[in-house]
Amino acid sequence: MAFANTKQLLQKAQRGKYAIGHFNINNLEILQGIVAAAEKLKAPVILSTSEGAIQYAGMDYLVCLAQTAAKKAKIPIALHLDHGRDLRVIKKAINLGYSSVMFDGSHLPFEENVKLTKKVVQWAHRKGVSVEAELGTIGGAEDLVSARKILYTDPQQAAEFVKKTGCDFLAVAIGTSHGAYKFSDTAYLRIDLLKEIKKKVKVPLVLHGASGVSLSLIKEAEKYGAQLSGVSGVPDAQIREAIKLGICKINTDTDLRLAFDAGVRKALAEHPKDFDPRQILAPAREAIQKIAEERIKLFGSEGKG
Ligand code: G3H
Ligand code: 13P
Ligand code: ZN
Repeated sequence: MAFANTKQLLQKAQRGKYAIGHFNINNLEILQGIVAAAEKLKAPVILSTSEGAIQYAGMDYLVCLAQTAAKKAKIPIALHLDHGRDLRVIKKAINLGYSSVMFDGSHLPFEENVKLTKKVVQWAHRKGVSVEAELGTIGGAEDLVSARKILYTDPQQAAEFVKKTGCDFLAVAIGTSHGAYKFSDTAYLRIDLLKEIKKKVKVPLVLHGASGVSLSLIKEAEKYGAQLSGVSGVPDAQIREAIKLGICKINTDTDLRLAFDAGVRKALAEHPKDFDPRQILAPAREAIQKIAEERIKLFGSEGKG
């Protein structure tokens, strides 16, 4: 198996005080853009498939794409299951050779979350697969990750949760949310809370809902017709601060979506006579590479591959 070990990548990042980029993949062009960025910057990278991505493209197809990339690339590439809720999907991912799986029991009562996370940890560890769990809830809406309010992670409960479940890394809720509409007012992360969690929890910490939704991406997409009023993301300075305080894995999906959207829109608007999917999707792949490079540099994982 050509995939890198997610736990080892994150432990190394923890020691080196940088974060590994987790990037969601849904198709060939997205994957190729991310991998091109990681190779160029010699950065380890985590490719991730949500249950929505699996429904869209098929787990077998996505695994094959990621395996091909991992075999060819000179950098460590891990494959991760994002927000796993369906135990059958989680089992299948473990059996197909994913490096790591997330069990997202954040919507469950504490004891139920502990019970199911522990079960997943037992299955996964038998096969050398590491497990991400979530405590507290990250807000926002994605395809299969339903909209909900942020419930901040309680530091004491987080320590108890990690001890009881044996999970390998923990996603924390400190004010981020999924999607492109993160803050109705000024961006605000509970850095104080992260400090407290870090004191009590020794496993690597994960930040979801971390896209930057940069003005340049928005302007580019809007220039070609996207309607994105009210969007906002996590400012770069807050990402840097979070890494200093122990975040070792940072999830990005929305920025990739925005870049892809802008790339497709631009290609169609500038070349209305083109109808070859390759002409339409190649600029989107380049846009993915560009944003992935920016994210990797921000996370400090450049040259760590
Ligand atoms: O955190 C969620 C990811 O952005 C995946 O979203 O379920 O729409 O694929 P999705
Ligand atoms: P964004 O929506 O901020 O990109 O977050 C993605 C994510 O957390 C995937 O798990
Ligand atoms: Zn997420």
